[in-house]
Amino acid sequence: MSEILRKQFLQHVGQTSPEPMLVEVERAEGVFFYTPEGKPYYDLISGVSVSNVGHANPAVVEAVCRQARDYMHVMVYGELVETPQVEYAKLLAEHLPGEIDSVYFLNSGAEAVEGALKLAKRVTGRPEMISMQGAYHGSTHGAMSMMGGEEHKSAFRPLLPDVRQIRYNNFDDIQLITTRTACLLVEPVQGEAGVIPPAEGYLEALRKRCDEVGTMLIFDEIQTGMGRSGELFACAKYGVVPDIICLAKALGGGMPLGAFAARREVMQALTHNPVLGHISTFGGHPVCCAAGLAAARYILDNKLVEQVEAKGALYETLLADHPAVVEIRRSGLLLAVELGSSERMFAMMAMFKEVGILSDWFLYCDTAFRISPPLTITDEEIRDSAVLIRQCLDRL
Ligand SMILES: Cc1ncc(COP(=O)(O)O)c(C=O)c1O
Repeated sequence: MSEILRKQFLQHVGQTSPEPMLVEVERAEGVFFYTPEGKPYYDLISGVSVSNVGHANPAVVEAVCRQARDYMHVMVYGELVETPQVEYAKLLAEHLPGEIDSVYFLNSGAEAVEGALKLAKRVTGRPEMISMQGAYHGSTHGAMSMMGGEEHKSAFRPLLPDVRQIRYNNFDDIQLITTRTACLLVEPVQGEAGVIPPAEGYLEALRKRCDEVGTMLIFDEIQTGMGRSGELFACAKYGVVPDIICLAKALGGGMPLGAFAARREVMQALTHNPVLGHISTFGGHPVCCAAGLAAARYILDNKLVEQVEAKGALYETLLADHPAVVEIRRSGLLLAVELGSSERMFAMMAMFKEVGILSDWFLYCDTAFRISPPLTITDEEIRDSAVLIRQCLDRL
């Protein structure tokens, strides 16, 4: 990377941390991205669970070009009939759990969460909202209020009132959900806490309690959705149907797209008292919907979801016996490789950069590194990247 570009990036592009990775991307294809010098990097993050169908997937690229030629933005979301939105909503409705059949498109995960919270308050008329310790739902004020890590939100208070966190996987805390509670927001598998799957019977117990007290159960499947967990939606893995489901990340096939979905009767609440209860200029952008639709069809047509469990298990088998690995937590192709200390994890990051692997750690767990490659990764690429990972582990 040229010194000028490096300086311009640091000077003019808003920064998120004191030490960005500073690797320049020239192009990306499949499970790799390449620097201008031609160095390949295994993408073991997928833009944080976005590129499920691989980079520059021809089906997605073609859909984007076609839609951009036909029309891009025309009118705010919800007024005109735009075929890519309609077709994508219909396809999602065919695969979403239970009777969920209405999809409200937005631009990002945080926005999907905001819409879902508002819908729950509007439908129940209740003030309180509950989420989980260790949860991540996005960086806007509402989503951040539902975040589980005090360290990340205290600098931004005051946040939303009447919000509380309960302990994920703790059955006693379920009683704290009461008739005051509008909604319970939960990731079926906690992502940024370091990949924590639900305890046996936990999601069922949440569903039961929400039914008892009339609280809306919202699943945040922004990270687990679109096949990453080994089912198209993780809730299917556990047989629990939420009232509202939030999607984003891989939903847009690499373009920015978020959504919350519910039964149509529920969703209709946003159309009156007040009218335009939730609106967005760019929500469900036709190019993003066309890209997402092409990606979803690619996932279904190529039976990607059916291969996820075996691919995740292969990574686990290839890495778990290394003496430096404390444990591997996994849901499908979302893995946290626990090293036991942040020093060791950061040492791995430096070595990964050298050998050509893109990984990172988790917002609330910096002792483990992430493996969440495109679902299109081949067994050979899994074996090859695991060899590189083991070489780094050897040097710890
Ligand atoms: C579970 C979960 N919810 C919500 C979000 C926020 O999504 P976005 O960054 O698109 O706002 C994320 C992002 O990492 C996430 O992992």
